[in-house]
Amino acid sequence: MGNNSATFGLNGENYEYPVMSGSEGPDVIDIRKLYGQTGAFTYDPGFTSTASCESELTFIDGGEGILLHRGYSIEQLAEQSSFMEVAHLLLRGELPTADEYSDFTNTITRHTMLHDQLRGFYQGFRRDAHPMAIMCGVVGALSAFYHDSTDINDPAQRMIASHRLIAKMPTIAAMAYKYSIGQPSMYPDNELSYTGNFLRMTFGVPAEEYVVNPVIEKAMDRIFILHADHEQNASTSTVRLAGSSGANPFACIAAGIACLWGPAHGGANEAALNMLHEIGHPDRIPEYIARAKDKDDPFRLMGFGHRVYKNYDPRASVMQETVKEVFAALNVNDPVFDVALQLEEMALNDPYFIDKKLFPNVDFYSGIILSAIGFPTSMFTALFALARTVGWVAQWNEMISDPGQRIGRPRQLYTGPKQRDYVPVGDR
Ligand code: ACO
Repeated sequence: MGNNSATFGLNGENYEYPVMSGSEGPDVIDIRKLYGQTGAFTYDPGFTSTASCESELTFIDGGEGILLHRGYSIEQLAEQSSFMEVAHLLLRGELPTADEYSDFTNTITRHTMLHDQLRGFYQGFRRDAHPMAIMCGVVGALSAFYHDSTDINDPAQRMIASHRLIAKMPTIAAMAYKYSIGQPSMYPDNELSYTGNFLRMTFGVPAEEYVVNPVIEKAMDRIFILHADHEQNASTSTVRLAGSSGANPFACIAAGIACLWGPAHGGANEAALNMLHEIGHPDRIPEYIARAKDKDDPFRLMGFGHRVYKNYDPRASVMQETVKEVFAALNVNDPVFDVALQLEEMALNDPYFIDKKLFPNVDFYSGIILSAIGFPTSMFTALFALARTVGWVAQWNEMISDPGQRIGRPRQLYTGPKQRDYVPVGDR
């Protein structure tokens, strides 16, 4: 195997494993035969050293702060592209031609309505239900309504399910919001863009015409692009794992939504803005930095740190610029932005954050923009789920199309009691 192999010694025996190279990024040691040959497992909680799949979708160089979707940098996509183009790129493999773009947006637009009986689901939730709780339930329930797109072995059905999920997510999220504030939900308007339609369904009311602000539409579209995919993060891995058993796509995406909800993942945008409000004034920043550094205090700077980025998250830079654009368009100036800027500066000059390579991530600034646009914090993670659906369905399709795909089934290091005899209750 020459240089393209890794030698591994165990109990006096040497074993050789092939080393695989991707188009970018570190090599990987193919240890698939390791258990069969050595009888030993590898131990990697949190999967910090484990590649779970091959993928052509997204590449991250965490050290350099690079994020590419099928080779295109996130900065160029955020600046020049649209969310629908990025969706096409991720799902179909290439940026669309003008005709493909028109076909694709037309297809997505025609799938935005929900089955009317699904609307009844919302009434079953308490009025104060978290939108993510509603999203988990309603997206999972799609499988009960769209039986004609749940055969995962049929590529055409897989594509229809993917289009449905991407198209219906804005409607589902907007309806969750409308339900929480007691307003009637809005039907989609096919004349509007994907993002303009979502803004109208969220902020419009049937009694008045809603005029989409093009600056806000552009900013929101860019936020969707920034969240579209991020290789094998926790929720995407959840979608892949759920899908590996052959579960239907709607159930898999509902599983992804559940995972995304956690504050260490998509829930961080909500937590970050709550934290900035709690800090309230730049004078209090040192107190919070001290708490974040204190090993005995569970507090962490929300929106800071990342498993993969050990440099500035490129999405956070675009977000920071977008805050300025949105503030100018809406003529607002939220003091929380000053707190965020100063917190960032202080943290980036503090040895604790420098040594641990902790930088702002995508969630640090997104909440400030979303709040300025008018979204309550409880909707932030739902918006993330809406955008990430594109990545989830693209990754799910990639996995199902892979002929080598097998059910995901990690092993464990068992540390419980050894085998012992059952003792009847009276003798214990
Ligand atoms: N504030 C203070 N200290 C931190 C922070 C933080 N935000 N993040 C990490 N650290 C410290 C840890 O205490 C740890 O210190 P130690 O080595 O002395 O024990 C070290 O940095 C490494 O942290 P881990 O938790 O081991 O890193 P991991 O890769 O497992 O976690 C995570 C990454 C979950 C993102 C973490 O940085 C975090 O909790 N950040 C805050 C939540 C957040 O913003 N999440 C959004 C992530 S992006 C996304 O999902 C879209």
